[in-house]
Amino acid sequence: MPKAIPYDVLVIGAGPGGYVCAIRCDQLGLKTAIVEKNARLGGTCLNVGCIPSKALLHSTEIYHELLHGAKKHGITAKEVSIDISALMKKKDGVVDKLGKGVRMLVEKRGIEILTGTAKLLGNGQVEVSGKEGIQTVAAKEIILATGSKPVELPFMPYDGERIVHSDHGIAFDSAPAKLAVIGGGAIGLELGSVWARLGSEVDVIEFLPEIATGFDPDVAKAARRILGKQGLKFSLSTKVTGVDIGESGVTLRAEGPKGNITFEADKVLVAVGRAPCSDDLGLEEVGVVTNKRGSVTVDEAFRTNVHGIRAIGDLIPGPMLAHKAEEDGVACAEILAGQSGHVNYDLVPGVIYVDPEIANVGLGEADAKERNIPVRCGTFPLAANGRALATDATEGLVKVVAHAETDRLLGVQIVARNASELIASAVAHMEYGGSAEDLARTIHAHPTLSESLKEAALASDGRGLHSL
Ligand code: NAI
Repeated sequence: MPKAIPYDVLVIGAGPGGYVCAIRCDQLGLKTAIVEKNARLGGTCLNVGCIPSKALLHSTEIYHELLHGAKKHGITAKEVSIDISALMKKKDGVVDKLGKGVRMLVEKRGIEILTGTAKLLGNGQVEVSGKEGIQTVAAKEIILATGSKPVELPFMPYDGERIVHSDHGIAFDSAPAKLAVIGGGAIGLELGSVWARLGSEVDVIEFLPEIATGFDPDVAKAARRILGKQGLKFSLSTKVTGVDIGESGVTLRAEGPKGNITFEADKVLVAVGRAPCSDDLGLEEVGVVTNKRGSVTVDEAFRTNVHGIRAIGDLIPGPMLAHKAEEDGVACAEILAGQSGHVNYDLVPGVIYVDPEIANVGLGEADAKERNIPVRCGTFPLAANGRALATDATEGLVKVVAHAETDRLLGVQIVARNASELIASAVAHMEYGGSAEDLARTIHAHPTLSESLKEAALASDGRGLHSL
């Protein structure tokens, strides 16, 4: 066996969890290397997830606005058309540029990137198989950051053509006439919106009684109504149970509230969740414990049950979100360097980037009630916000949930254009233990959509100035 190269830390996987962890390790003086099987760093988020989907959402929002929103501004947009290959090229350019940026950040620090597939060998050794053959690398600490992959429905294997997952759904070469989306979560709603804007008839089939699980049901309902007006068709409490794939299309069989039902489609986008990438890593061979979903079990210091092996990001239990993985990576590196790295998992914001965006942090009203926490809630409709009126962003609302006795802010839910940016101030208030009163007394520039947060906080105490 060739002589192993010694590192303090070897990170397996260069997604937002892994590469950020490696950078922080390097900042803290740990000799660090990353193993990544893809030529481009950045993982799911950069290559096939957050970034390309946001590029597509932005481009298609412009297209949709030109088609349907220009006229009321007195703008005549003649012969508006869409070139899907140019749209995809634009998206690919964004991904490429960011990928180069991430590689530069890592390389300039002198962090070694080993291109290949890693397998744990035990005793701090990892086998890396790449184009240049197989090498063995040794490290005092190994950090697993291999991320997640789309879940497959057992009766509907992916073929990349008719039955597709999100990696395919960001790269169709034309808009399918009929697209069935299974799952009304972040992926289903975002990619459903992209293709609906490009002309597809989109059916979103959701097993639960409401879309956007994790959001307050009334907020999710408000979002669903808005998306419905944009053309997305929702079938709730509907479970897909089977599929028939024919020459000319697909028939989905499902059980809905009124009995059996079928959906015809040209393509079916399955977006029923993601599963940790814990196969083929050699976990079983070295004895790393996983739970029944395949997530690696870790303690508060990201330690697995095997000495010298830790895990972060989508591979461990918790929300599968890039920003959560990054925080795991930073905290894990700091703990390794003897610092007290910590992630506040109660305050991980969630965002679905449809139009208007849906964002939340902390507890919704229903979550609080379930936990018997007494709450006072305040809502404010975007329709009553001046900036929203001036910029055609009147769809949506802000809802603030505060503790009924202490007034501590427990959660904020937003359906609004730029909710992804607006939620940041709610997260900051909550991170510092702020109250609804603190938010209500914080001066927000006028006219901005952010005033809706202040107004919702005021409304939680019956003091709304611009609502009744
Ligand atoms: P998800 O877990 O968010 O939603 C899946 C939905 O599918 C659920 O509502 C579930 O009830 C439904 N479902 C499951 N089986 C079904 C069936 N047989 N028939 C009908 N409905 C069924 O999963 P999604 O959207 O695939 O996203 C995967 C992960 O990626 C999530 O953790 C999500 O947070 C993350 N992600 C986050 C994004 C963001 O932050 N904007 C964007 C994309 C993904």
